[in-house]
Amino acid sequence: MTRTLWDSTVGKKTIMAVSGLIMLGYLVAHMVGNLKIFFGPGEYNRYGHWLRTMGEPVLHYSWGLWIVRVVLVAAVVLHGVSAYQLSRRDIRARPAKYVHKRPRASYATRTMRWGGVILALFILWHLLDLTTGTVHSGGFQEGHPYQNVVDTFSTWYGNVIYIVAMLAMGLHVQHGFWSAAQTLGVGNATRDRVLKTLANLLAVVLTAGFVSVPVAVMTGLVS
Ligand code: HEM
Repeated sequence: MTRTLWDSTVGKKTIMAVSGLIMLGYLVAHMVGNLKIFFGPGEYNRYGHWLRTMGEPVLHYSWGLWIVRVVLVAAVVLHGVSAYQLSRRDIRARPAKYVHKRPRASYATRTMRWGGVILALFILWHLLDLTTGTVHSGGFQEGHPYQNVVDTFSTWYGNVIYIVAMLAMGLHVQHGFWSAAQTLGVGNATRDRVLKTLANLLAVVLTAGFVSVPVAVMTGLVS
């Protein structure tokens, strides 16, 4: 059963859909959490602290966060590997000879591939910037995410990296959510319009919510 799921095209697409929806759930929660920056350092840092204490007293300190991390890493790996394998399959399945150059993948497919690569690179940068502090621009302070975020968006490249990544994320979510709904078979003639609207809404709200953070720092609203 597991083998069939992993080997078949529809199985890989299902894995992509489910792992994508898990990451989408995280993104919505993370965006809402980030908006707490508008309520000042106390509220924002408390959110950072809660990430480590969630699940207490049932769970030990940080266990909840580590469970979330493990689930997210599994989702990222499954999503990326399935995407790569599906795109290799797609290339192999093409008839051998074309008179002209190989027809290029559709606009949406190419956007998803490049968007995925940009997002993977962004996540790596983001973790090194705001979780470990390795590439952080200011003096990284563990346990003070508010100040760390303000430092990040006080550099031009911090703003460029994050805003470009957020736009790529919006496009990826918009098409990805729609594709996931198709794969999971939740659409039909009447529901498709609702699903498309939901995909657009999610993409716009997530992009605007995240981008509002660097914009607030750039304009001095958050400092
Ligand atoms: C303006 C945009 C964003 C800001 C200001 C932001 C801020 C932060 C901060 C401050 C942390 C560290 C939290 C802590 O350790 O207390 C963090 C962690 C994280 N962020 Fe973001 N984030 C943004 C966008 C994103 C996006 C778009 C993604 C995913 C594509 C993302 C994924 C993550 C992940 C996976 C973690 C690690 C959680 C952990 O394991 O500790 N973030 N973010």
